[in-house]
Amino acid sequence: MSDPIIVVDNVHKSYLMGKEAVPALRGVSLEILRGEFVCLMGPSGSGKTTLLNVVGGLDEPSRGHLIVDGQNLVSLSENELARLRLEKMGFIFQNYNLLANFTALENVEAPMVLANVGRKERQERANRLLDRVGLGDRTHHYPSELSGGQQQRVAIARALANNPPILIGDEMTGDLDSETGFAIMRLIAELNKEGMTIVFVTHDPRMAEFAGRVVELQDGKLLNGATP
Ligand SMILES: Nc1ncnc2c1ncn2[C@@H]1O[C@H](COP(=O)(O)OP(=O)(O)O)[C@@H](O)[C@H]1O
Ligand SMILES: [Mg+2]
Repeated sequence: MSDPIIVVDNVHKSYLMGKEAVPALRGVSLEILRGEFVCLMGPSGSGKTTLLNVVGGLDEPSRGHLIVDGQNLVSLSENELARLRLEKMGFIFQNYNLLANFTALENVEAPMVLANVGRKERQERANRLLDRVGLGDRTHHYPSELSGGQQQRVAIARALANNPPILIGDEMTGDLDSETGFAIMRLIAELNKEGMTIVFVTHDPRMAEFAGRVVELQDGKLLNGATP
């Protein structure tokens, strides 16, 4: 568990607001080892989401290099990036981001459809994953028929659909009461024990305690925690 699975090397990212470039990341370097459990913290606007999006290939850095599981993100085409996201990373968001017109089972199946997994195997895996997150009896419910905590469990099952080595969470307990939030973090911690690399953002120091390392961002720069 000692090779780096994520390497962020002097990454800069600016957004254009009209004519002005707003810097979101200003030279971030960060190394995350396979199997680590890393928490990103920092004030609102410090660049946490931007950093996750850049690592996740959802956003392109203005400068710098990124390596994810041995692949140099900056050199990849759009198609290759989409493939990398599908195979290497599961994403969990604050607002769950489930498809409203799809059942829990169909939501978990969706990334497998994109990965061309056959129907039978898809349904078997989706059922198994929903069992795993404690929703075996809710597979045919729609998101609107589920509580926030249950929707987030569906989102976790969906993130695990293609068995990625990395799980990325952006404020995934932000909309949940603390008891439900803790239950979600315990589930995430279990996945980490099984070897998954976890990178998550939280404002809540009680959730940060689950992590093995806390990295702090301020004004688009790391304050500490850049290396294991
Ligand atoms: N799409 C965007 N367009 C313009 N500015 C953005 C965009 N996304 C983020 N920013 C700016 O970049 C900075 C960092 O944002 P963000 O990464 O969302 O911070 P955090 O997640 O830590 O709250 C903020 O100043 C924000 O306003
Ligand atoms: Mg954010």
